[in-house]
Amino acid sequence: TKRVAILISGGGSNMVTLVNSMTGDHPARPVLVLSNDPNAGGLAKARALNVPTFAVDHKPFGKDRPAFEAALQKALEVAKPDIICLAGFMRILTPEFTRNWEGRMLNIHPSLLPKYKGLHTHVRALEAGDTEHGCSVHEVTAELDGGPILGQAKIAISADDTAETLAARLLPFEHQLYPQVLQRYAAGDRTPVMING
Ligand code: GAR
Repeated sequence: TKRVAILISGGGSNMVTLVNSMTGDHPARPVLVLSNDPNAGGLAKARALNVPTFAVDHKPFGKDRPAFEAALQKALEVAKPDIICLAGFMRILTPEFTRNWEGRMLNIHPSLLPKYKGLHTHVRALEAGDTEHGCSVHEVTAELDGGPILGQAKIAISADDTAETLAARLLPFEHQLYPQVLQRYAAGDRTPVMING
């Protein structure tokens, strides 16, 4: 059975769907939910699901990213995950950190990568006049939001969409996509999952 650590920064809705998916004959189990924000709403949700939690508050580290990442690394080394899922984790990770976990770390990003790496993806899709939008799960490499794509879900953009309505319509597709990709990945299958909403 593969051990999965999930890194969050906020509400953790993707984390909840991942945890709930890892039951029965699923090839993985959750071993840790780790947040950079001790007040992240997702931590209480993880505890309610009986998953161990830990927080490494990034604030006391200030601009010292390597020290923050050393603390993250220490927490992860205790949990010994085979796979790390970034799920709404909003800190940029340095190449030195991603190298430690390359081939073992996934991320979900709210755009149809390679479009719109980084922040404000919904606004950027609308401003570009795109007719479709979506989310991607990819392997994490040193390049921000740049690793091999393991799955995407697409939705149509309608004329009256705002960044808020788009984000809200996309989230349920994130919740479909990420568990499907994780299940395949944990079984050693990297065939992309494609969902048309
Ligand atoms: C999700 O929409 C996820 O795709 C996005 O943050 C949200 C987290 O929601 N991630 C990023 O923007 C990564 N740069 P959640 O905490 O409810 O899962």
